[in-house]
Amino acid sequence: MRVTGTGHASMRIDTAAGSILCDPWVNPAYFASWFPFPDNSLLDWETLGQVDYLYVSHLHRDHFDAKHLRDFISKDATVLLPEFPTSEMEDEFRALGFTKFLRAPNEQVVELPGGLKIMIQALTSPTDGPIGDSSLWVEYDGVRLLNQNDARPTDLSVFAELGHVHAHLLQFSGAIWYPMVYELPQAAKTAFGKQKRDRQFDRTWRYIDDLKADHVFPIAGPPCFLDDALWQFNDIHGDEGNIFPDQSVFLSEYAKVGGTNGIVLLPGSVAEVTTEGASTTHPVPVEEFFANKVAHLEEMRERKRPVIEAEKASWRHPEVDVLGEMKRRIEPLLDESIYLAKGVGGPVRFDLVGYDGESVESIVVDFPGKEVRPYADEKVRYRFRTERSLIEHLLFIDEVDWVNSLFLSCRFSAARIGQYNEFVYAFFKCLSEERLQYAEGWYDEHERSTDAEDITLGDWVVQRRCPHLKADLTRFGIVDGDQLTCQLHGWRFDLPSGRCLTSVGHKVRAHRVDAETPAPAGEAVI
Ligand code: FES
Repeated sequence: MRVTGTGHASMRIDTAAGSILCDPWVNPAYFASWFPFPDNSLLDWETLGQVDYLYVSHLHRDHFDAKHLRDFISKDATVLLPEFPTSEMEDEFRALGFTKFLRAPNEQVVELPGGLKIMIQALTSPTDGPIGDSSLWVEYDGVRLLNQNDARPTDLSVFAELGHVHAHLLQFSGAIWYPMVYELPQAAKTAFGKQKRDRQFDRTWRYIDDLKADHVFPIAGPPCFLDDALWQFNDIHGDEGNIFPDQSVFLSEYAKVGGTNGIVLLPGSVAEVTTEGASTTHPVPVEEFFANKVAHLEEMRERKRPVIEAEKASWRHPEVDVLGEMKRRIEPLLDESIYLAKGVGGPVRFDLVGYDGESVESIVVDFPGKEVRPYADEKVRYRFRTERSLIEHLLFIDEVDWVNSLFLSCRFSAARIGQYNEFVYAFFKCLSEERLQYAEGWYDEHERSTDAEDITLGDWVVQRRCPHLKADLTRFGIVDGDQLTCQLHGWRFDLPSGRCLTSVGHKVRAHRVDAETPAPAGEAVI
């Protein structure tokens, strides 16, 4: 099996029974904030795009690059579709001219002509990607590969059960706006960033250890930030709180925990993977490339400047009545929302900075009051500050997912009172009837389901499944004193009270080993 690195989470897998192109991303994403690193725009995409199968793990724009798919990828390719709850991905593919689809039943092996086997695991909670993320498992001629991508399944047993995996490709770096955009003192930001960076690596080691593949390929990040306004987010300034470590940092951190089987794929690198081993060729020596990282980024920044400027010129739509449009689109969703609105639990304020860089219009999305209105000097739980033109553009293009556009752009700042609230972001990624209904239904089901199984961790008996996204705490749970940490996403819980210390709601059931067993309680948590 041949694996060609094509940048970020993208790769082309070639076998004698056919080729699969995964997640081809080239054009900047999220308001021209993210670019693939290392640069992959100079690859021969005309040739790479002539494939038998196309797999896109999810709709995040650093995976689903509509322009590139339209311009370069063969429309004869059969699209391997994860079993997502909404038809959005298929609709987007159809709009681009793709007509051949294979809807892969979730977690079931599908044998394609010639003996190529695939299995796709779809993750479908409202917090998984834009309502869905997925991983692809491939087997041909006894060689097995897992493209885990940036998906975070609770465990990898469904893949491990299919036999020893030879190549495991997974994310290790950051892909979020936290903590950089928060209005915090620099020292706090650095401390939070460092925690996050450590947690990302810990999670990666855990997945690697779960699967014990012969070879581990760090993929799906980091992106690079080429706009001058975002340049500081690149991990080139010696900031230990930077959440975007690159593949060379992965190799050195992995070595510290005894990892010796890491393989970095640059765009154009080719790995031949067999049951016996892997041999890799690179377009330039990997160490030399990373030693010249700053020069690479600076050259890219100059080359991509016109692309960024052209994008920026398209964002302003002065004719859009922002308050009126937000009311028209968001109020009907507030009316329908039970779980998300209750989970947010307070007003969320948007400060929109005008074209002059000074004037500010403040708009409140009032979740309890179920209305969108001008800010009225009240206390708010969350406040976002961004350029008015970005919101104008989202309204102009009728964007239903503000996470997959505004928030991932990092072109905003944020402040909040109290804990992180996942419902805020879940709501703003569900600005359509279809998505909102799905998310509401998902929370409804999960609130009703009881989770009666308990386990013992240290001095504590706790529910087996994490109250966040059901990670198995026998594997991911660590108890330190009276605190439980679930290492899948790093959420912490105070065991005596059961309170989640990371986010609103999500209470955990727990009692001391030597205490009387309380009656099992499927407590409401939001
Ligand atoms: S499943 Fe996310 S922190 Fe436990």
